[in-house]
Amino acid sequence: MSEKRKVILDCDPGHDDAISIILAASSDRIQIEGITTVAGNVEVEKTTLNALKVCDLLGLNVPVARGAEQPLVKVREFAPDIHGYSGLDGPQLPKVPQKKVIDQHAGDFIIERLLASDGEITLVPTGPLTNIALALQKEPAIAEKIREIVLMGGGTFGNWTPTAEFNIYVDAEAAELVFNSGVPVTMFGLDVTHQAITTPAILDRIALIGSPISEFVGELLAYFTKTYKEVFGFEGAPIHDACTVAYLIDESIFEFETVRVDIETKGEFTYGTTCVDRLHVTGRGANVKFARGIDQEKFWGLLLSALKE
Ligand code: RIB
Ligand code: CA
Repeated sequence: MSEKRKVILDCDPGHDDAISIILAASSDRIQIEGITTVAGNVEVEKTTLNALKVCDLLGLNVPVARGAEQPLVKVREFAPDIHGYSGLDGPQLPKVPQKKVIDQHAGDFIIERLLASDGEITLVPTGPLTNIALALQKEPAIAEKIREIVLMGGGTFGNWTPTAEFNIYVDAEAAELVFNSGVPVTMFGLDVTHQAITTPAILDRIALIGSPISEFVGELLAYFTKTYKEVFGFEGAPIHDACTVAYLIDESIFEFETVRVDIETKGEFTYGTTCVDRLHVTGRGANVKFARGIDQEKFWGLLLSALKE
């Protein structure tokens, strides 16, 4: 068996972030070094509470560090229409989590863990990239210590503007810094995450499992499916963020191409766009492993077996 992948999950739970945490916690191929939270779907106070509640539910004993309240430059934007007021609407969770955050900013936690490592830690951001950018700005030496940045964000089309995906759009300046950091970036954008959409048959299979965690995920997906129908007219919910962890567990689930990606930070209509150079027309050196395809059978099989665990 290949070695465990040590990861720091940087997230803005968020229904799909929560499922990503559950998938990571269920796998003997993943070692969660810590969870860091960021403002994204909702305010960082709420994403942090949500991360702590998911840890309580899982009995997950890992450090949780609260991170950035706002983007590097832009004014904050949230997505309550998709994730609800709490950021994790749908399931009934205790108002106050048992678990507490550690007394360290997410950016400092990331820096400390990376500098103490031998370069084996993978960063897995599934929200805006503000924490990652702050850590790289504060301590550039961490760049050579990051094994890989496996992120959910961007794509060749948008879901927040016609060309920009939410995570990148919320903090395009942070994304620009991360994509130009020289650290290997593996990108799960909408091109692939919109192929990981739940169906009634998948929801039925989850409902049949009958464990507390599968019940929780079923309630998450019932809410997430409802909002995706209302907002985008989708028949199911894309489990965007879980693609990152699924890749770390079984890379064969996905197909990739190596491309140049630049981030637009100036355009009136295009701010936050990931300019994915699939035809290599820029002649600029490739900086991203871009996920373009998914084996749906394998992906859902992995998620369902994780929930059965
Ligand atoms: O655009 C999808 C992304 O935005 C996902 O990470 C979702 O959780 C939200 O953060
Ligand atoms: Ca997210």
